[in-house]
Amino acid sequence: MTPGLVHLHGLFVVLSLAGFITRGLWMLRDSPRLKARWVRIAPQVVDTLLLCTALLAAWRLYWQHGAHPAFLSVKIAGLLLYIALGLIALRLGRTKAVRATAFALAVLLFLYLMAVAITRQPFPFIR
Ligand code: HEM
Repeated sequence: MTPGLVHLHGLFVVLSLAGFITRGLWMLRDSPRLKARWVRIAPQVVDTLLLCTALLAAWRLYWQHGAHPAFLSVKIAGLLLYIALGLIALRLGRTKAVRATAFALAVLLFLYLMAVAITRQPFPFIR
């Protein structure tokens, strides 16, 4: 059952990134689609499921055995930072330059977190 859970987590990871990039591009083009009700709600559902499957997988693979590898701490902190950058990019940033910078940093951070997940290393690019 756990491999299925990890795959489900991976699916929500992909949906979250695809949805975030789509909304980021709409933000850059001042698209009114960004204000649609479903566009505001769907990402919250996806991100909640991303986190729930993540925590459940972490429990089953590691925490219930008393283990806590460093890469998990990096992913938890990274996810919180990604959410904060996402808020700045899509809602709170006052100028488009601030919003665009937050958007680019959030996407880069997300890609880094994917590398962390795949290698299970906090610093995947350092050998
Ligand atoms: C934006 C944030 C995140 C991204 C991009 C992400 C991405 C991924 C990906 C792509 C995998 C599959 C890796 C593979 O099977 O090779 C994975 C696995 C996993 N993720 Fe996440 N994840 C994120 C957040 C989290 C969080 C917050 C946790 C919670 C503690 C978590 C816990 C796990 C666990 C336990 C696995 C399975 C690791 C293993 O097989 O040993 N993830 N993640």
